[in-house]
Amino acid sequence: MSDTPRSVFPHRHLLGIAGLSAPDLTALLDLAEAQVEVSRQVEKKKSTLRGRTQINLFFEPSTRTQSSFEIAGKRLGADVMNMSVASSSVKKGETLIDTAATLNAMRPDLIIVRHHAAGAVHLLAQKVDCSVVNAGDGAHEHPTQALLDALTIRRNKGGIAGLTVAICGDIVHSRVARSNMLLLATLGARVRLVAPSTLLPPGIEALGFETFTDMRRGLEGADIVMMLRLQRERMNGSFVPSTKEYFRFYGLDQEKLGYAKPDAFVMHPGPMNRGVEISSEVADGAQSLIREQVEMGVAVRMAVLEALASHLPNR
Ligand code: CP
Repeated sequence: MSDTPRSVFPHRHLLGIAGLSAPDLTALLDLAEAQVEVSRQVEKKKSTLRGRTQINLFFEPSTRTQSSFEIAGKRLGADVMNMSVASSSVKKGETLIDTAATLNAMRPDLIIVRHHAAGAVHLLAQKVDCSVVNAGDGAHEHPTQALLDALTIRRNKGGIAGLTVAICGDIVHSRVARSNMLLLATLGARVRLVAPSTLLPPGIEALGFETFTDMRRGLEGADIVMMLRLQRERMNGSFVPSTKEYFRFYGLDQEKLGYAKPDAFVMHPGPMNRGVEISSEVADGAQSLIREQVEMGVAVRMAVLEALASHLPNR
């Protein structure tokens, strides 16, 4: 391995933001800054992961996360295998543990996992010998999304400490919200949660997060407005009367955005539902960082893979 990085991240896996320190997070964000430059060059190929095998194991649909992990692994020189669960033996009743043991026998170096059940990625990490990255587990965590959001904020605002970030929408079902709340609080931002009471986690104020059911009040003076999709696949019952009604009270349009600071930025992890949680005017407007988030996704995933590579055995 010609340019295996020295260890800046003292963890074998990336399973969540919980448990990571401010220096851990800052080290990953600093490493990602360098990867932004690599990705903007004509020659994008590094050799950090040359000879390594990366498996992307996605039990849930993904556009951004899966493709950016594939691009990130390839830019670092890894052999990347995308495992399609739709055509795998999972469909024939194989358990997650048996799937993990089968893949482990093929001696991968990194497994990237998305699963519909909270905790499934932690369980899988206990059953394999390689490094594991959580690419989203149920309503639990999506650590690389929070890291790419933080990188995007840092590059546009110069830092994270002291900013007011309003996370708006379906907080209770969102792994993106959970990972962002943990990361932003660790790095010193003030986090507000804006949602109808049915979509706010009960008792969340006790953990130091301000909650607002009035979106205009929640956006007042915000530096960052982070919108979330209604996660219907994780809803058991009806949480909002109708999407039309939801947009009226909680959809981000230009009028509601006017309550945030004039230099506020708008973010969304995607996929977006235009006309439900965000208007097209705002999503495509001058204050939107949504496309930049996607670019930062590749850089952050390269940084995470490179950080974990420093723990892989060399022989
Ligand atoms: N933000 C996000 O996780 O998007 P995908 O579901 O497309 O990966």
